[in-house]
Amino acid sequence: MSGIAMSKLVVALLGVLFVGMLSAIIALSVVYSNEVNANKEPAAPAPTEKTTPKPSDITTEKPTARPSGKPTASPSEKPTPTMRPGPWNNIRLPKNLEPISYKVKLWPKLEPDPITKLYTFSGDSTVEFRCLVPTDFVIIHSNKLNYTAKGGHLALLKDSSGNDVEVSSSWLEPKNQYLVLELTAPLQKDATYTMVTEFVGELADDLAGFYRSEYTEGGVRKVVATTQMQPTDARKAFPCFDEPAMKATFDVTIIHKPEHKAISNMPIIDEKSITVDTIIWRETTFNTTLKMSTYLLAFIVCEFTYIEKIENGTQIRIWARPQAVYDGQADYAINITGNILNFFADYYKVAYPLPKSDQIALPDFAAGAMENWGLVTYRETALLYDPVQSSNGNKERVASVVAHELAHQWFGNLVTLKWWNDLWLNEGFASYVEYLGADYAEPTWELKDLFVMSELHRVFSMDSLVSSHPLSSAEEDINTPGEINELFDSISYSKGGSVLRMLSSFLTEPVFVEGLNTYLLAHQLSNAAVDDLWVHQQQAVDNNNVNLPKTVKEIMDTWTLQMGYPVIKLDTSNGNVTQKYFLIDPEAVAGRPSPFNYLWNVPITWKKDGPISTVWLLGVKDAIFPDLQSADKWVLLNIDEVGYYRVNYDVANWNRLLNQLQTDLEMIPVINRAQIIDDAFNLARAKHIDVKLALNTTLYLVNERKYQPWQATISSLSYFKQMLDRSAVFGNMQKYILQQVIPLYNYYDNLVGSNWNDVPPGHADQYNQVNAISLACSYNHLPCEVKASAIYKAWMENPDNYIIHANLKSTVYCVAIAAGGQAEWDFGWKMFKETSLATEADKLRDALACSKQTWILNRYLEYTLDPAMIRKQDATNTIVRIASNVVGQSLAWDFIRANWEYIFTEYGGGSFSFSRLIEGVTGRFSTDYELKQLEQFKADNQEVGFGSGTRALEQALERTKVNIKWRADNEKRIDEWFIDSIRP
Ligand SMILES: *[C@@H]1O[C@H](CO)[C@@H](O)[C@H](O)[C@H]1NC(C)=O
Ligand SMILES: *[C@@H]1O[C@H](CO)[C@@H](O)[C@H](O)[C@H]1NC(C)=O
Ligand SMILES: [Zn+2]
Repeated sequence: MSGIAMSKLVVALLGVLFVGMLSAIIALSVVYSNEVNANKEPAAPAPTEKTTPKPSDITTEKPTARPSGKPTASPSEKPTPTMRPGPWNNIRLPKNLEPISYKVKLWPKLEPDPITKLYTFSGDSTVEFRCLVPTDFVIIHSNKLNYTAKGGHLALLKDSSGNDVEVSSSWLEPKNQYLVLELTAPLQKDATYTMVTEFVGELADDLAGFYRSEYTEGGVRKVVATTQMQPTDARKAFPCFDEPAMKATFDVTIIHKPEHKAISNMPIIDEKSITVDTIIWRETTFNTTLKMSTYLLAFIVCEFTYIEKIENGTQIRIWARPQAVYDGQADYAINITGNILNFFADYYKVAYPLPKSDQIALPDFAAGAMENWGLVTYRETALLYDPVQSSNGNKERVASVVAHELAHQWFGNLVTLKWWNDLWLNEGFASYVEYLGADYAEPTWELKDLFVMSELHRVFSMDSLVSSHPLSSAEEDINTPGEINELFDSISYSKGGSVLRMLSSFLTEPVFVEGLNTYLLAHQLSNAAVDDLWVHQQQAVDNNNVNLPKTVKEIMDTWTLQMGYPVIKLDTSNGNVTQKYFLIDPEAVAGRPSPFNYLWNVPITWKKDGPISTVWLLGVKDAIFPDLQSADKWVLLNIDEVGYYRVNYDVANWNRLLNQLQTDLEMIPVINRAQIIDDAFNLARAKHIDVKLALNTTLYLVNERKYQPWQATISSLSYFKQMLDRSAVFGNMQKYILQQVIPLYNYYDNLVGSNWNDVPPGHADQYNQVNAISLACSYNHLPCEVKASAIYKAWMENPDNYIIHANLKSTVYCVAIAAGGQAEWDFGWKMFKETSLATEADKLRDALACSKQTWILNRYLEYTLDPAMIRKQDATNTIVRIASNVVGQSLAWDFIRANWEYIFTEYGGGSFSFSRLIEGVTGRFSTDYELKQLEQFKADNQEVGFGSGTRALEQALERTKVNIKWRADNEKRIDEWFIDSIRP
């Protein structure tokens, strides 16, 4: 899966204007919490409910004999589904049964039921399974499905000869989302059985399981039935053994209107017409899948069209709304998909496993994209691209998300992790190789050089909090859907990707891919654990006689089993190198014990003016490396920031490096120029170095023209801005920033002209042009603001013909809406509602949060909870945007506090990322008063809960305390430094 907010876009394109909190703390968490759903339901149906009459043949419960099943609970006791002990009380499936195959027929109704007004689907399913250990129970996942009684029970069970197996009782266990059959005699070891069910479910707009998405085309409302199963919602579509290691084959049949299309993981093998109540329907059957996990299933019914290409015998299609396809928005994706599939087949040395590859852009989608095997689903902005209206950042997003999802078609889908506790390997791996796949498709973009900005720097800030967590979790700690969902965070994605990039670097890429290849071949169509990958990497190391000081597992365990990362400090006077666990809060102490005492096996790359070398600091606090001693030349560590650690030096070496930057910056690799800034600012926050030394790293920027160092500056200063933009210091900060950025701003004006219609040729240069303009405008460079407002005005006057360059739209919109009033805002809103291009809608939706008028922002906040105004999938992001605006901050916080319970219950179902919401809204908190408010908020909502935002709330409390201290310690000295550094 790929996450909601890609910081590279946010930061590169809009970030400066929202420098607020975004770059520092965007989490990639994707949350559609079932836990929330579970909480929403009463703790359990009371025993009496089980006998309530049900509409004719539909029953959710079978009130047959259940020996001790009817609790005689005293009225004060909260009833539970069954007070009776049994395996259904365990959140994990018992290991007695193993699925072999499913035949699933589903019939989604794309019109509401005329009486109940509910959108529903009906289905029947036959699952064949083997009994591994004799048992009296069949326990299978089922969530929010109502069953049709069969032979007096919720399901029919048959043995391999087709004889009925006697069921003594059957019931649902909503707490653990099970359907349970109790048998009169145990199932036999090694025998196979089939279970047949018939059921109905709601086709809700909750973005989870089998759900509905809506859009309008030509003024007509259209409904799409689609799926999002990962991680635990396949059970909401049909009863299944819904754990990733329970692989099986699936035969899917979909019933739909003849004018609709049905798509699934595999190609169609049969289509026929059926007549039900004089209405003709189409029944489409798909070929049997390979052996796969339930969370990778997908089926969609829609009126979309597609464009197609055949590449190496593989049918590739991109599906979207007909208008979007007609407008050419799918062209870019189809042009790169073949290349990327070829790249990965070659990289893994394993052919693409399936006969076809469908990718589809959905109007409502919770995550960024989902790697369903053979039918990848995307939100529109992650797949569709318009050459005129979409920016280069939008294009990069498509390339990288497509590469991410296609990488999973092997790593994740062909070989799947055994359990969710190892999720980081799946997501971290895809987050790393997406850069390789996208780089293959767009070789001129130098994407591999952007990894550091987009993944490493961003996750460094999360991972320097004591409330972070190790990449690997123990299997027994990850059980509930809420716990599983919480793992989809930037630690799993960006830290996972970063440590794999480091591994690949010290093994060398050919050795790394050899290990990958044998891992995939050994575990294909099956499951593996993280240690299995280390075994194969070790074999590759041994085969190639790579000289490593320890085994792959010994090295990697120090990065995956303990949270955080070290700061490596070099003292060039004697070559002494130390490592220390890096925490952003100078007074924090490691919260949990680490198996390695917060010491790592660190590959340290370094250079003076010669070639790059490596030394290892192996699990010890310090060591002397005579080569690293230096009396006059600078020494640079962590070349290209391949290692997952920060670097600190003695002051003399810092000054030699800063001197080098001032005299000839090209001598330091561009990624390391960004690293110096990012490390220095964070080291200062953690009190490893003086804040004035950190600020000194920005002095050379008057001569810097490259994207990465500027991007690092923007994110580093974003913390300053966030802390200071409501304080008296801000005026001097503003003067200094403008002094540094105006040369860059003028450089682009001279390079490509000052009308903002032309952009430089390089991909990263285009980002940097936007950064220059955004930074100048957001610090109120008057010519910049005037130009942006004039361009917006010209567009307002001639909306059909005036074209703003796509790269600059976000900036222009935001600046003009901030400077403008109701007319500018209302025009932006109108264009937002009218555009049929998702990337354009996102730009406008973001920019609408830039207004400086309280009443406009409050009105906009109200819109976020009205799905007719703002799609549910965009609600969190919009609120976070408003909060990142210095004027909107307190409004958003009041809004969240006032509406928490409502948001939690109404939006908990699928689309809402509570962790991002909490992070976003509390990012500026830096006063005692705000800390009290946050503590009060926590206390007030204990009953309601925080679901997937639980950890984020703890992090927010921690961060607020750190911020309070930071301001007390630094504000005055920073002001002095700015005053000293402003040229008259
Ligand atoms: C399932 O049954 C419950 C309880 O009777 C009912 O409220 C719900 O609407 C039913 N769902 C569907 C999809 O029919
Ligand atoms: C269905 O899959 C089988 C097994 O991969 C294959 O042999 C057969 O040709 C496929 N049928 C169609 C119609 O694609
Ligand atoms: Zn993924």
